[in-house]
Amino acid sequence: MLTDDQRQKLIQVAIQARKWAYAPYSNYKVGAALLTSSGKIYDGVNVENAAYPVTMCAERVAVFKAISEGEKKFEAIAVVTTNGGAPCGSCRQVLAEFGLNTLVLVADSDGNLISEDTVGDLLPGAFTSNDLT
Ligand code: THU
Repeated sequence: MLTDDQRQKLIQVAIQARKWAYAPYSNYKVGAALLTSSGKIYDGVNVENAAYPVTMCAERVAVFKAISEGEKKFEAIAVVTTNGGAPCGSCRQVLAEFGLNTLVLVADSDGNLISEDTVGDLLPGAFTSNDLT
């Protein structure tokens, strides 16, 4: 469970990060903030590209930053957009790799919490490493 302070902090970090989003094509800026079990917060933004499919989502940037620094256990991720848009399927799959219990907070750019679900809720029947055995 997250405390209200943790919830607010994550949303605020995602709002701040969102300012660095590189989204000249869609103009849809996304900020993310990922809380690890060690208490660190990794932020992320969407990074678009003139070759559109190369674009990377904010959530995955945050996850990859954390993984690249040795963090593998995640408590929660906040995702902030102007309208409280939902995380895409690819980001759900990447989050699922590291635990179905990670909380996903979706908020708008005013900091209003739109939804709070686990990754498992957002990706029922997730394909995981268990399926490979
Ligand atoms: N985007 C994200 O950053 N996260 C998502 O979960 C959904 C979509 C970005 C990708 C692209 O830069 C823009 O939002 C519009 O799709």
